[in-house]
Amino acid sequence: MSVTSEPRAQEGGSAPRHRSTTRSLLRLWPYVRPVRARLFTAAGVAVVASCLGLVIPLVLKWMVDGPITDRDPGGVWLGGALLLALGTAEAGLFGLRRWLVGRPLASVEAAMRADLYRHLQRLPVSFHDRWASGQLLSRATTDLMLLRMFLAFPLTFLVVNGVTVLAGFAILLSQEWTLGLVLVVPAVPLVILCSFFETRYAAVARTAQDQTGDLTTVVEEGVLGVRIVKGFGRHRSQARAFRALSEQVRSTELHKARLLAALWALIMTLPELAIGAALVLGTVRVADGDLSAGTLVAFLSTALTLRWPVESLGFLLAMSQDAATATDRYFDVMDAVPAAARDRPRTAPPRRRGEDGLRFEGVEFRYPDAPPEEPPVLRGVDLHIRPGETMALVGATGSGKTTLTALVPRLQEVTRGRITLDGRDITALPREELRALVAVAFEEPTLFSATAGENVLMGAPHAGREDLLRALKVAQADFVHALPEGTETEVGEQGLSLSGGQRQRLALARAVVGGPRFLVLDDPLSALDVHTEALVEAALRQVLASTTALVVAHRPSTVLLADRVALLSEGRIAAVGTHQRLLRESAEYRSLMSGQEGEEGERNP
Ligand SMILES: Nc1ncnc2c1ncn2[C@@H]1O[C@H](COP(=O)(O)OP(=O)(O)OP(=O)(O)O)[C@@H](O)[C@H]1O
Ligand SMILES: [Mg+2]
Repeated sequence: MSVTSEPRAQEGGSAPRHRSTTRSLLRLWPYVRPVRARLFTAAGVAVVASCLGLVIPLVLKWMVDGPITDRDPGGVWLGGALLLALGTAEAGLFGLRRWLVGRPLASVEAAMRADLYRHLQRLPVSFHDRWASGQLLSRATTDLMLLRMFLAFPLTFLVVNGVTVLAGFAILLSQEWTLGLVLVVPAVPLVILCSFFETRYAAVARTAQDQTGDLTTVVEEGVLGVRIVKGFGRHRSQARAFRALSEQVRSTELHKARLLAALWALIMTLPELAIGAALVLGTVRVADGDLSAGTLVAFLSTALTLRWPVESLGFLLAMSQDAATATDRYFDVMDAVPAAARDRPRTAPPRRRGEDGLRFEGVEFRYPDAPPEEPPVLRGVDLHIRPGETMALVGATGSGKTTLTALVPRLQEVTRGRITLDGRDITALPREELRALVAVAFEEPTLFSATAGENVLMGAPHAGREDLLRALKVAQADFVHALPEGTETEVGEQGLSLSGGQRQRLALARAVVGGPRFLVLDDPLSALDVHTEALVEAALRQVLASTTALVVAHRPSTVLLADRVALLSEGRIAAVGTHQRLLRESAEYRSLMSGQEGEEGERNP
């Protein structure tokens, strides 16, 4: 039952692999374990219920051959009552099964989803760079729902129907083995065809689920990027792209349906033919007198009872296949190694005592998915930012400034060399400690759908109201107080209800709220007008006096915040010095800063 799953488009391009449905599904065991008692009880109850159904034909046989032939009304009533009781018990037991599995399975789904979410938070940034968010979204929703449905229904019924079919065939053969064989023999080609079908179906199921993920991505981007879509009048082409993808999903689903239909046709027709043949054969033998009418009735009603268990096998297998695919997709993500497990072996860190500031030593970095022939983005960065010093980082666009800042909080791992904070290698620091030491604000200020205050306080879980107000002041984000509910105002998804500059100032407040020892700011003031920028700078100066900071800067006005400036060029630090010195000594620096010389003369302290 092994298939090779199709290579997938967007999410990391993992190579085709060999897999088995059963092995995939077995990986669910750790999640199912806590509810195994209920699940097994439920399966047991269902088996009993289903086998009760098989007793009914035997009662019929007794009625036909006994009370009916003897014209005994008391016996007929007794038989009728017995049948009613059996039917009621069967229905009651199936109801009990449903009740038994409902709640525990919802909790299995919740547990798996919680694990997935936790895992996603721990995966390195490079993982998220590679994976489309829609793929992750569809795994957390559609795939997990498929799994819950699988555990609730097909899993139990594969067992129940399997047992019922075996028990039924045993009854059939024991009643009248020649007629029994007529029914059993067609089962052989059926099994073979089923497994053939499964192989084909598995591949299509995987494609369908992956395409659903891609579709989710398109929807998500369309919604988040609705301003761009509208602004550029791209709604038509966006709709076209969506239609093309959904057309793909549709045709894959149709392919699935066609496979399923073919299987169903087989599964429905073969037993029907077999029953027909048995009916003719049986009637002839009753007429000849070598079979009792009761036996034939019992035989045929057993065969009819078995029709559903046999027919259901097709879609139960299909659902199991979907579930196996969903399991694979779930574990594709869960198997990705979280950042913590990737710590590089440390070379003994020569400890400098006390404060040493932030040091980059021979730092080389290449993006994991960059083509091998391309030189690394950073090729040996050496830089020392002294304790309490503010260093501005300047460089042409695309020179790797953002990349360099992402290395300090270990959003990306250096490929060679090392970074130390007060003499301690950042790879030797526990992640929590590292992230408490270092605060960051990025070019793109990211806010969450929460209140303005909550967004800022994310920067320091233990900070109080006073810290919040101080941080807002430093970042010149006092506009918050003018919002309808002050710091309690919801800022909407991604903070889109705020202006770009307002968002940037909130992100800056978040970076400074915890009073971090090390501050890494990626061009934090780019969206502010000159006046506001000057105010932020004045306030930042007080904060920067007590922290060691690396500030990416494009404008001379931001550079002037810094004690020294480092020029990043061709993957290395080309020059370090005061703004004035670099202006004098570096032609590249001069050209980067040119056009705004007039301003810096007045501001330089
Ligand atoms: N996630 C990524 N995967 C692969 N390459 C990347 C990734 N992010 C950035 N790069 C590449 O790394 C190089 C440096 O990018 P980076 O964002 O660090 O530049 P920057 O100096 O911050 O530029 P800017 O001034 O425009 O913000 C660029 O050539 C970019 O194409
Ligand atoms: Mg940048």
